[in-house]
Amino acid sequence: MLKIEKLFKSYASDTYALQDISLVVERNEFVVILGKSGSGKSTLLRCINRLVEPTSGRIFLNGKEITGASPSHLRQLRKNIGMVFQQYNLVDRFSVQTNVLSGKLASVSNMASLLNLFSEEDIEKSRQVLNRLGLAGRELKRADKLSGGQQQRVGLARVLMQNPQLVLADEPVSSLDPMTSNQIMDLLTEFNKKEGVTVICNLHLPSLAKKYGTRIIVLSKGRVVYDGSPKDLSEAQLSAYYDSQ
Ligand SMILES: Nc1ncnc2c1ncn2[C@@H]1O[C@H](COP(=O)(O)OP(=O)(O)O)[C@@H](O)[C@H]1O
Ligand SMILES: [Mg+2]
Repeated sequence: MLKIEKLFKSYASDTYALQDISLVVERNEFVVILGKSGSGKSTLLRCINRLVEPTSGRIFLNGKEITGASPSHLRQLRKNIGMVFQQYNLVDRFSVQTNVLSGKLASVSNMASLLNLFSEEDIEKSRQVLNRLGLAGRELKRADKLSGGQQQRVGLARVLMQNPQLVLADEPVSSLDPMTSNQIMDLLTEFNKKEGVTVICNLHLPSLAKKYGTRIIVLSKGRVVYDGSPKDLSEAQLSAYYDSQ
């Protein structure tokens, strides 16, 4: 479903944040991108939906090219891609429900969204989604009044509302304690298994990567140094990747 060909990204003229990345992700995979801080994980994820503009290379979603897509075509393609962020990226002063409904904004005209004209159907769906994620009764709370784990569940609810084919999660549990982290990772796994959503999830902890990934891609200095099953990734390899500068 996702194909990346010879992707390079350079922020400054003489260094590359990503170098020569080529990979194919099939539908229904749960891919973990693993690597230490600065290895290029966020840049890779953000190139996929062009929050970061690649320097060269091509990216295709279901055969349609994302790189080079016009703004209106890109908007169409992005409807299929949900994003989950480390810092949740909620609108703090908005209610939980408004944050969740904003997952529909890609398909509601801007004017309608400004006027809060969400359909009854969307509002009902947002209730169901919040219920499913254990947030029933919190619809009207301000987002910033929730705990970190609850805020990330709102982030996941927003993604479910969007009904995407692909979810890109950039270190979604790095700000959470271990128990809450597992709850969030379990929910992503459930979307992957039940809804058939393809997941690409950046993590920096090998233990979480091995627990949740069906495939692990290790990045080091902007290059892919491992791409395979979690069980074939040895501790020796991991420490080599993590200790190299
Ligand atoms: N907006 C930016 N401008 C300049 N350099 C950046 C920017 N974002 C990231 N980088 C650099 O790109 C490299 C990869 O960063 P990043 O993709 O954030 O890695 P990770 O998510 O694995 O920590 C790092 O050297 C980082 O300093
Ligand atoms: Mg990052």
